[in-house]
Amino acid sequence: MAKVNIIYWSGTGNTEQMANLIAKGALGTGHSVNVLNVSNATVVNAKEADILVLGSPAMGAEVIEEYEMEPYINEIESFVKGKKVALFGSYGWGGGEFMAEWTNRMKSYGANIVGSITVQYAPESDESMRCIEFGAKL
Ligand SMILES: Cc1cc2nc3c(=O)[nH]c(=O)nc-3n(C[C@H](O)[C@H](O)[C@H](O)COP(=O)(O)O)c2cc1C
Repeated sequence: MAKVNIIYWSGTGNTEQMANLIAKGALGTGHSVNVLNVSNATVVNAKEADILVLGSPAMGAEVIEEYEMEPYINEIESFVKGKKVALFGSYGWGGGEFMAEWTNRMKSYGANIVGSITVQYAPESDESMRCIEFGAKL
């Protein structure tokens, strides 16, 4: 049974909804799943995960959230080498462009990126299913 830690930041709840849907999918496969707001997460939560699932909306100008998620990523960057990492997040008008840069950045730290998913604003029915399936495939 893999330990799946889902750590996210969300301002208006869209990325949080994605986190919970991904967790639902991952739970269905019998993994041990923890969902944590990044404000409650420590480096240990990243280190201990067999699959680390990180979520942030697009903020600033096509970047991840700058005041909590950005510092967290800096804290864990030396622990993600070789680790399975999946990324997710909600966006507004940018087409999910921020995700490409975030993915490349995590790869540059040596993370084994096993998938990424973006949804525009809140996940509606089709996107909800996509999030659940994404969690199930982890
Ligand atoms: C300060 C701020 C900056 C944003 N910058 C972008 C952006 O660069 N590109 C984009 O597609 N959406 C941008 N958005 C829209 C959010 O990504 C979008 O509303 C998202 O659904 C918010 O997710 P959340 O509910 O998890 O906070 C921005 C929103 C805010 C509040």
